[in-house]
Amino acid sequence: MKKFPSDFIWGTATSSYQIEGAAALDGKGPSIWDAFTGIPERVHNGDTGEVACDHYHKYKEDIQLMKDMGVKAYRFSISWPRVLPTGKGKVNEAGIKFYSDLIDELLKADIVPWVTLYHWDLPLALQLEEDGWTGANISDHFAAYADLCFDRFGDRVKNWITLNEPWVVAILGYGQGVFAPGRVSNSEPYLAGHQLILAHAKAYNLYKEKYSHQNGVIGITNNCDWREPLTNSQADKDAAERALHFFLAWFADPIYKGDYPDTMKERLGDRLPTFTAEERAMVLGTTDFFGLNHYTTMYAAHDDGTVKKERSVYGNGGISEDQMVDLSLDKNWTFTAMNWAVVPWGCQKLLEWIDERYDRPDIYITENGCAYPDKIVDGKVNDQARLDYYKGYLQACQTAMDKGVKLKGYFAWSFMDNFEWASGYEKRFGLHFVDFETLERTPKASALWFREVIGENSADV
Ligand code: GAL
Repeated sequence: MKKFPSDFIWGTATSSYQIEGAAALDGKGPSIWDAFTGIPERVHNGDTGEVACDHYHKYKEDIQLMKDMGVKAYRFSISWPRVLPTGKGKVNEAGIKFYSDLIDELLKADIVPWVTLYHWDLPLALQLEEDGWTGANISDHFAAYADLCFDRFGDRVKNWITLNEPWVVAILGYGQGVFAPGRVSNSEPYLAGHQLILAHAKAYNLYKEKYSHQNGVIGITNNCDWREPLTNSQADKDAAERALHFFLAWFADPIYKGDYPDTMKERLGDRLPTFTAEERAMVLGTTDFFGLNHYTTMYAAHDDGTVKKERSVYGNGGISEDQMVDLSLDKNWTFTAMNWAVVPWGCQKLLEWIDERYDRPDIYITENGCAYPDKIVDGKVNDQARLDYYKGYLQACQTAMDKGVKLKGYFAWSFMDNFEWASGYEKRFGLHFVDFETLERTPKASALWFREVIGENSADV
C-alpha cells in the first residue's frame, strides 16, 4: 500500500452496550437495549448485553491490546443510563468514575479518546416516560446529558461525537422495528429523525457556548452505504441519488445546508416535520467534521411499483416505498457474514459524493469493517478475508484522497468481537477474537496487520 499522511488518525471503535456488560451494576439504570433483548425472538439466540465482553472490568487489558496494535485514537461511547440512570436528574457517580478512569488510562497509553455521546442505549425511563426519540422534550434531555459529560470529561476529551447513526435509530428503531425500541411505523422515523437532529444541534451549540475554553471539536457520525445506478438510464441515476438523499442527506443537509433535501419534502409531505426558521438557524453549521460509517454498496433502480420483488433487497433500504427505489446486489460480488457486499469502489465514490455535496469537509471514517465466522486454530485467528476487506477499503480511501477528498482519519470497526445488536454474538466484527465463554481476547491476523500499517504510516508523528 502507498503511504498515508503522517498526521492521519488511526483508530479503532466500539460502543458501550456492545462491549461493557455490567448492565445492572454499580447503579446503572436500564437502557432500551436491556429491555429489547428481554423480548423473545428479537435477538438471535436470545443473546443480551448483560455481560458482553465485560469491558467494564477488563478495560485496562483492552487498552493494553490497543497499545500493542499501535492505534493513536479510540472511539467509544458513553452509556447514558450508566451516568444518568433515569436519563435525567440524579447523577450516578460510579458511572462517571468508570469513564473517567477509562479516559485516564487511555491518555496514559497515548491513545486519544473520541467519545460518542449516544450509540443507541437510551435510558429506558426516557422511552417509557417521554416516548423516546419521538418525545417533544427529548432534545433538551440530551443536551443536559451532554452538558454533564462535557463538564466531567471535557478537560481530557477533545473529540466528541454527538450521535452515532441517527438513520439506524430512526429506521431500524422506529420504522422496521428490528432494533430497540422496536416500533413499526411509516411516520415515526421522520419524527424521531427530527428530534435527533435538534438534539445534536443543541448539544453542539451548548459545547460551543459553554465549553469553548476546552478547545475541542464536536461533530456527528452518519452512516451511509453507496448506491450505484443499476443502469445508465436517467431514471436509475435519479433513483440512486434519491436513495442517497433518503439515507445520508436526510441528516447531513439540515446541518450543512439548513434544511431537508427537496426530494424528501416532496415525497413525504406532512410526514416530514418542518424546521422553524429559528430551528434552521440553530441546526445550520453544527458539525466540525463529517463523521462517516460505511460498510457496503447496493445497486439502485427506479421502482414504479412493478419491479419484480425477487431481485429486490429491502433489508437495508429504509422505507423503500417512500423512495421508489429498488435495491439489488451483484451475485459476483463477495459477501461478509452479514451478507454485506465487499465493494471498495463504493467507498471511494461515496467519499467523493460527500466531498462535492458538502463542500469539501474534513471527513473521518468513524467505522468501517466486516464480520466473518472466525475461529481460533492453534491459538491463532487467520482472518484473511477481513484483511483483504481492509486493504481494499483503505486503498479506495487513498484513491479518493488522491482526488482531493479531505479524509483525515479512519477507525476500524471493531476493536473486538462484541454484541452485534439483533445478530447477537454470532457475527464477529472484531480485530480481536473474544471467546464469549472465557472472555479471553486474542488478536486476529488483521490486528497484527494493522499494527504494521499504522507503524509504517505514523513514522513522523
Ligand atoms: C454500525 C453500528 C455499530 C456496529 C456496526 C456493524 O451500524 O454503529 O454499532 O454494529 O454497524 O454492524
